[in-house]
Amino acid sequence: MKLLILNGPNLNLLGKREPEIYGSLTFDDEFKRLQQKYSNVTLAYFQSNIEGEIIDKLHEVGFSYDGIILNAAAYTHTSVGIADAIKGIKTPVVEVHISNVYAREEFRHQSFIAPNAKGIITGFGLLSYELAILSFL
Ligand code: DQA
Repeated sequence: MKLLILNGPNLNLLGKREPEIYGSLTFDDEFKRLQQKYSNVTLAYFQSNIEGEIIDKLHEVGFSYDGIILNAAAYTHTSVGIADAIKGIKTPVVEVHISNVYAREEFRHQSFIAPNAKGIITGFGLLSYELAILSFL
């Protein structure tokens, strides 16, 4: 089983960025924990602040991986390009968010990813990523 965790803009700042919303752990630490716990899964990780790089990565893995766990961050609410990329690939995508986007500002209630996703996990902190892994197992 090959899964990619794909994080979008500003998620490289996890641990430092708005800790009251996103917590104080870095994603690198969480990724190491997930790799150890799910050692039977080939887990890859990619983060970019650039929309086109996220689209390129979806194209790159989207015909060979078993699943993509995508936190497109702010691009969730704006990106037709990422939505179209998900439509164009074969690998199923689970949309994840650390915060509960539906309990936040109204502009975060719209997702261009959701109609093309296998499912959505939002609001469980970094545990959202682990729940998404479990959804593929
Ligand atoms: C986020 C929620 C988005 O609205 C926000 O722009 C992010 C992170 C989350 O994981 O809670 O950057 O995707």
